[in-house]
Amino acid sequence: MSEIVVQTSDGVLSITINRPDKKNALTAAMYGAMADALDAGEADAAVRAIVIAGAPGAFTAGNDLQDFLNNPPQGDNSPVFRFLRGISTASKPLVAAVTGVAVGVGSTMLLHCDLVYAAESAKFSFPFVNLALVPEAASSLLLPRMVGYHKAAEMILLGEPFDAAAALACGIANAVCPDDRVVETAMATARKLAAKPPTSLRLSKQLMKQAQNDVAGQMAAEGVHFKAQLTSAEAREAMTAFFEKRPPKFG
Ligand code: COA
Repeated sequence: MSEIVVQTSDGVLSITINRPDKKNALTAAMYGAMADALDAGEADAAVRAIVIAGAPGAFTAGNDLQDFLNNPPQGDNSPVFRFLRGISTASKPLVAAVTGVAVGVGSTMLLHCDLVYAAESAKFSFPFVNLALVPEAASSLLLPRMVGYHKAAEMILLGEPFDAAAALACGIANAVCPDDRVVETAMATARKLAAKPPTSLRLSKQLMKQAQNDVAGQMAAEGVHFKAQLTSAEAREAMTAFFEKRPPKFG
């Protein structure tokens, strides 16, 4: 089965990340497939809401670290940047169902979703500093705005995982559901949204997001540092240490 499964029913486009043996870590090809699905959903008037989920067990362990080591994304049209542009500019409602780990982009993409349902097993983290990287997807702007500066500093500078209850308490998630109910909860909510007047829905989302019109600029600023850090000796050490199952040593 494909590593990105795309289905449409009842006006809802669902994108399921399906690479369970690697905790749904995202390769360039997978980002490309998700970016294509978002573009197709945007262009198709029959699609009225979009759900993003992970195959059972994980939402996503974030960017594939082997890909980061071997094939670091550099161009603005690289699949990861196309995907980030897609979620950050989507005009239709995005609903996420998070089961298990949501690491790195697994957590930053949620800041662009309109509604986020977390399973009891969900574990969120922004481990960029631990990987000698910097935040991406405008999370350096959106997270402090969403949860407050001190909480965001704890999440980004320490990079430690936190659970569904903590995500709910700080506003990253809308609700916590039992693991076996989270996808259906997200789908049922998306179907509710799909039945609403589409123009009103699109304009209401646009108005709420309008105040965040600095997202693209922040992403560009992050991108400059992210790309440079990706090829740094610090990042190589952090990622090599992950695969060698040992603590990294800096300096
Ligand atoms: N890139 C590439 N492979 C990854 C991966 C990633 N981001 N995350 C997990 N994997 C692989 C592991 O190498 C392992 O592969 P193997 O079975 O061939 O050894 C497999 O997925 C299962 O991962 P494992 O670490 O054994 O699972 P776990 O439940 O103990 O831990 C995580 C899950 C997500 C906490 C842990 O895998 C992790 O920290 N991954 C890295 C996350 C990360 O830093 N992402 C980048 C963010 S920018």
